[in-house]
Amino acid sequence: MPVAIQKLHRHFVGEVSGVDLTRPLTADEAREIEAGMDQYAVLVFHGQDITDEQQQAFACNFGELETTRGNSVTPSGDARIASGLSDVSNLGKDGKLLPRDNRQRLFNLGNCLWHSDSSFRAIPAKFSLLSARVLNPKGGNTEFADMRAAYDALDEETKAEIEDMICEHSLMTSRGSLGFVDYTDEEKETFKPVRQRLVRAHPVHGRKSLYLSSHAGSILGMTVPEARLLLRDLIEHATQPEFVYVHKWSLHDLVMWDNRQTLHRVRRYDQSQPRDMRRATVAGTSPTVAQQAVN
Ligand code: OGA
Ligand code: MN
Repeated sequence: MPVAIQKLHRHFVGEVSGVDLTRPLTADEAREIEAGMDQYAVLVFHGQDITDEQQQAFACNFGELETTRGNSVTPSGDARIASGLSDVSNLGKDGKLLPRDNRQRLFNLGNCLWHSDSSFRAIPAKFSLLSARVLNPKGGNTEFADMRAAYDALDEETKAEIEDMICEHSLMTSRGSLGFVDYTDEEKETFKPVRQRLVRAHPVHGRKSLYLSSHAGSILGMTVPEARLLLRDLIEHATQPEFVYVHKWSLHDLVMWDNRQTLHRVRRYDQSQPRDMRRATVAGTSPTVAQQAVN
């Protein structure tokens, strides 16, 4: 069966049929899916009962994979998943629910804030692929916002004002906004801010998008309060319902999104019940800010 992509939401979410992610893709299938990502920015695949290895193999069609290093406060010895996928669950190494006050769980609640994956890395992520392994009974929808449409809808004066702005992103900013402020010296070093352009252009089709994230906490040349107000205003603008798709998960859904063109967040869910989601992340290939290339 050939790959088919049907529009789910306006112009930025497609539903893919005709692929079985338990098998290697043909080169044509991989090309069609990547072209679909460039056109849409979010693709939904239903009924994909895959292993971690199959998820990684699928992700590898689109570039090198990111390691999980530096994206949590979970000591490496405490990881639940050995495959190298990011663990986006509320479970510990023993497979049981993490205690309510567990530091790693509290840190991961930052995923409830609008963000773009790995915008806190000098070379931020390209695609993320999230697989639903255990659904939570209440809440836990994931929302996506189209940063191309949000950019297009800005007035010309604002577009000109922000065109060359450079933001600083850090995991300590997003977590700090939830009151999570205690870090070891090693974590402070790992989570040091990186610079990102506020407006970026897509490498294939050239459309501009707002590159926002709750990790962004300052803008070069601006005071912090002024920068944060501007960033808040832009996130508020960019996440109005007209730009947002709400994904209600079914078991074995895989959702793939382009972090260069979208924001996402998970909504609060029942923390007395498990939710097991696992993410493969395709690394980007270059910094958004030129001078970081030499670091
Ligand atoms: C992620 C993320 C959302 C979710 O995996 O990057 O933000 O629904 N997850 O768990
Ligand atoms: Mn995320």
